[in-house]
Amino acid sequence: MTNVLVPVGLDRNSEEPIYRQLIRHVRAQIESGSLPSGSRLPASRDLAQQLNISRISVVNAYAELRAEGYLSAHAGRGTFVAGERAASANGTGSPDFGGVMLAEASPSALKSQADAAPIGDRSLRELMRLARKPGVINFSQGSPPLDFFPVNALRHAIEVTLDRDGARALGYEQTEGYGPLRSAVRDYVSALGIRCTSNQVLITGGTQQALDLVVQSILSEGETIVTENPTYLGMIDIARARRVNLHGIPIDEDGIRIDMLENYVLERQPRLIFVMPTFQNPTGRVMSLHRRRQLLNMAGEFNIPVLEDGVYHELRFDGEPLPPLKALDDQGVVIHASGFTKNLLPGMRIGYVISDHYHYERLVRVKQAADISTPGLNQRAVHFLIERGLLSQQLERNNRELRRRRDAAMEACERHLPPGTRWSSPDGGLYLWIELPRSGPTAAELYISAIQHGVAYAIGSIFYPAGGGTYRLRLNYAVHRPAEIDEGMRRIGRAWHEVSSDYADMEKPPLL
Ligand SMILES: Cc1ncc(COP(=O)(O)O)c(C=O)c1O
Repeated sequence: MTNVLVPVGLDRNSEEPIYRQLIRHVRAQIESGSLPSGSRLPASRDLAQQLNISRISVVNAYAELRAEGYLSAHAGRGTFVAGERAASANGTGSPDFGGVMLAEASPSALKSQADAAPIGDRSLRELMRLARKPGVINFSQGSPPLDFFPVNALRHAIEVTLDRDGARALGYEQTEGYGPLRSAVRDYVSALGIRCTSNQVLITGGTQQALDLVVQSILSEGETIVTENPTYLGMIDIARARRVNLHGIPIDEDGIRIDMLENYVLERQPRLIFVMPTFQNPTGRVMSLHRRRQLLNMAGEFNIPVLEDGVYHELRFDGEPLPPLKALDDQGVVIHASGFTKNLLPGMRIGYVISDHYHYERLVRVKQAADISTPGLNQRAVHFLIERGLLSQQLERNNRELRRRRDAAMEACERHLPPGTRWSSPDGGLYLWIELPRSGPTAAELYISAIQHGVAYAIGSIFYPAGGGTYRLRLNYAVHRPAEIDEGMRRIGRAWHEVSSDYADMEKPPLL
């Protein structure tokens, strides 16, 4: 059986990722009968070359079509149109996808129509939606575990709030936030060493909104934020949405590299420094005390505000806590953003930002324009939970359980991941940061096979604003119980072994 002709009409400007377009084309050919049962498809490397797209796009498209039952693979012989699907095909007419047949297209036509770029961030995110398939052990999300959420206590808090405040709980709240909650935040952060008044506390729709408000109130379009590399995906999204640049500075064992940061600041005068000093997302790193002080000195010297994201600060189960940057800030350069989302529950969307008065005024104006106020009922219910001491109880219990899950995850890495894999050993937070051996597939290349084995993770490259992290993955170990963690890791190991031989001969991207 000869190789079939595959149509191309790939639109590199489309919102639809290239590998999805390819799936659509091949599927349509099979369904129309023009790719009959038993037809052999070109080898992934050949098709990638012919279409001038990355091989991983073809590999992923074939893998997905295999999972859907359209194709079957025979070791050593190639990829074929599967029998049953072809039998149900209903016609023999030539396909018309608005494209050209591969055999008829000139190389230049192919080049202009196909995606010559390596798999991009958009495609990776699209790929990661596959994590929602039923039966998949999903390590990819950023959520705390569902089994930590205090459902009954919240139900009680809402009932009490409504009985106590009636319609007042359902109106517009002050933009700055519900007064008693602002005071509770002041008291809560003072236990972490942050001195402020409740007039410096603005309640926000989660930490995410706090970050976005700070970016909006400080930067204009085209200006630059400098951050850790890799960094929080939500900040990459904010920077894109607000049309500001995000520049990443590498991190070492102590946190962001101050020497490189200082050079960058001198040369480019960024408007804001964004860091996650404790349990950085995605790496889980903790910035050392010395580095914290260096950062503050440098920011003070150049008078650049530092946006500190403290959302994982309290999820510590090992080691000694370090003060947040805001607690060390004598020069007033730090804006502190955090929330009761990772440590209590994310769905009520209660976050806050603490800043000096100059920034505060602007933040309130931007918040007002964004959504007038954070829902009053949510603020009051969360305030009730904090006042009743639920937060501290939860933290103690949850952190104990997080440690157990972290231990299970590290044992499972040891047991199931291929030799040469390296992983972090976090003292807190939700994530393991893993580096695969370079002898095998990259994290993106492994992904579809991992999904087929019933496991998903966050592909590391999505956390690098300018590319990198090709062999990295982030695993949220916290959302699963130990037995499931072990099974998930076993599936990753199996997927890796299955695909690694396919990739042994592929050219490797440079070390990043
Ligand atoms: C570093 C970091 N900041 C902010 C957020 C957003 O948190 P919230 O749910 O409080 O908006 C997340 C969520 O994953 C995060 O990882």
